[in-house]
Amino acid sequence: MSGEAKRSDPGFACAGAGEGMPAHVAIIMDGNGRWAAQRGLPRFEGHRRGVEAIRRAVRTAGDLGVRYLTVYSFSAENWRRPAQEVSDLMGLLKRFVRHDLAELHANNIRVRIIGEREGLASDIRLLLDEAEQLTRANTGLTLIIAFNYGGRQEIVGAMRILARKVKEGALDPEEIDMETVEAALDTHGIPDPDLVIRTSGEQRVSNFLTWQTAYSEFVFLPCYWPDFDEEAFKAAIDEYCRRDRRFGGLSARMG
Ligand code: IPE
Ligand code: IPE
Ligand code: MG
Repeated sequence: MSGEAKRSDPGFACAGAGEGMPAHVAIIMDGNGRWAAQRGLPRFEGHRRGVEAIRRAVRTAGDLGVRYLTVYSFSAENWRRPAQEVSDLMGLLKRFVRHDLAELHANNIRVRIIGEREGLASDIRLLLDEAEQLTRANTGLTLIIAFNYGGRQEIVGAMRILARKVKEGALDPEEIDMETVEAALDTHGIPDPDLVIRTSGEQRVSNFLTWQTAYSEFVFLPCYWPDFDEEAFKAAIDEYCRRDRRFGGLSARMG
């Protein structure tokens, strides 16, 4: 099989960085609560250990030559959780940015935030702005944090932007095409994810990158997010490298 032909390193199906590797990996980091419950620990402990797993994932993505890494940190629907848990998750985001921003910047990582800023506390908004501003000229890995993010909400937002332009006479409805829509999304300028990984065994999208994942490959891993390590990341990429992406056409491997 051509999957075998591409193999240059046993256990890793991609030929090497830049050759069949995913440029953009997006992760639905799920299972913190179950990880904690399994150990008789409070859910917060799972979330805290989840932040460690994010740090590992950023390091591994950089090492593997991934260009864009998106992490789903808080969904637009996560407000439905108990107030204490929501507050814990907000606190962890703040701590992550305060504690890790200097190091991310030193590592040439560009930070982008997607999701609704309105509705977030002003101190969080300021931190998110600071992270983007400080790292905007960095040229290494782009780390995209999806926070208070919902794919449908993002599409609604894009429709509002385009509708306003039409109303102002700045846009002809007949000119609206996929590029116009993409430019109005939070992810403008970021290529679509090649690979979406979801941990915890759940096999659903949960309102993540609805527009952008039209042709993404999905890999579902049974491990809980705090246990996601370099080995799991490589296993997911390996699985991706064995997939045959067709985009509606015929297999490139068939010639
Ligand atoms: C993922 O873990 C973190 C967030 C959604 C913020 P969960 O908190 O969803 O953990 P489970 O799914 O309950 O185990
Ligand atoms: C998806 O996980 C959101 C994040 C990982 C931030 P959830 O745990 O919120 O998803 P559901 O509720 O199981 O679909
Ligand atoms: Mg969950």
